[in-house]
Amino acid sequence: MSSLIKTQNLNFSFSSGVKTLDNVNLDVPQGSIYGFLGPNGAGKTTTLRLLLGLLRNQQGTIEIFDKQFSSHRLEILRKLGSLIEQPSLYLHLTAKENLDIYRRIYECERSRIPEVLKTVGLDNTGKKKIKQFSLGMKQRLSIAITLLHQPQLLILDEPTNGLDPNGIIEVRELMKKLNKEHGTTVLVSSHILNEVERMATHVGIIHKGRLLFQGRLHELQQMKTKQSLLEIETSDNSRSLQLMKDQFASQESGGKIILPFQNKEQTAAINKLLVQGGVDVYALHPQQSDLEQLFMDITNTNN
Ligand SMILES: Nc1ncnc2c1ncn2[C@@H]1O[C@H](COP(=O)(O)OP(=O)(O)OP(=O)(O)O)[C@@H](O)[C@H]1O
Ligand SMILES: [Mg+2]
Repeated sequence: MSSLIKTQNLNFSFSSGVKTLDNVNLDVPQGSIYGFLGPNGAGKTTTLRLLLGLLRNQQGTIEIFDKQFSSHRLEILRKLGSLIEQPSLYLHLTAKENLDIYRRIYECERSRIPEVLKTVGLDNTGKKKIKQFSLGMKQRLSIAITLLHQPQLLILDEPTNGLDPNGIIEVRELMKKLNKEHGTTVLVSSHILNEVERMATHVGIIHKGRLLFQGRLHELQQMKTKQSLLEIETSDNSRSLQLMKDQFASQESGGKIILPFQNKEQTAAINKLLVQGGVDVYALHPQQSDLEQLFMDITNTNN
C-alpha cells in the first residue's frame, strides 16, 4: 500500500522550550481510513493544521500525494478536502444555496451540488433552511462542501464532536461510504477510542506530541490479546501448577495462578483439568485488557 501522507520528524513548538509535536512520523496509506487518536491537547489539530499549511512548518518534512508540501502546496490542496474549523454556513439559506456559494468559490460544476447532497444524504431537504437543521445535518453539509471538488483525500478534525449518538453514526457511516464507494482516503482525528475502532482501518495514537503507536487496527487489537491474562483461584495452587505444567505455561503470583489468556476453550480446558485432578476451582478471571485499557497503558507509561 503506498502512502498518501508521510511526515518525517515533524516537530513543532508554539513557545520555545515546549514541544507540541515531537518527531511525528505519520504514514497514511492510500485507501485507508486512518484514525488519528489522542486525548485532549495531544497535538492532533496542530498536526492536521501543519498538513494543510495552516501553521508554518518549523522542522521536518511533509509529503502528500508523493510531493513535498513546501514546494507543491496549491497542487496538493486542490486534491484534498478538509474540515478543521467549521466552514461558515449561511443559516438563512438552504443546503443547495449554501453549496452554490462554495461551488463558485471552488469553481466546480453546478452538477456537483445534487451529487454531493445525495452522497451525504441531504438530498431531501428541499427548502429547509440550515437554521432548522440538526447538528448532524449541519456537519454532513459541511462535509458535502469539502467534497465538491471530488478530493481523493479528506482530512477531518473530530468531525463527530458535539453530535448526538445518531449524528455520530451518520457521520461515521458517511466516512465509510466515501472510502468504500469513492476510494477516498480519510484521515480523521478523534479522542474516543471506541469511535476509531468502529471505522478505522489504520490507527495512529498521539500523546503529548509523540506518536506512540501506528499501524493497522488489527495490530492494535493483537497487542490487546497479547496482554491479556487468565487468573485462577484454587484450593491448592501447587497441585494445580503440577497438573497444568505439561500443557500450560502458568505461574503463581499474589496467591493466584496466572497465565496468558488465549480463549474461552482454554479456560474451560483448565477448569476441567483441575477439577478432575481433585482441586477446587473458586474463580477463573480472564483479565481482558481491552483497547481502552491498552490506550491508558500506552499513554500512562509515557508521561
Ligand atoms: N495557538 C496556540 N498557541 C499556543 N499553544 C497552543 C495553540 N494551539 C494549541 N496549543 C497547545 O498545543 C497543544 C496541542 O494542542 P492541539 O490543539 O493540537 O491538541 P488536540 O490533540 O487537537 O486536542 P483536542 O482534543 O483538545 O482538540 C496543547 O497543549 C495546546 O494547549
Ligand atoms: Mg483538536
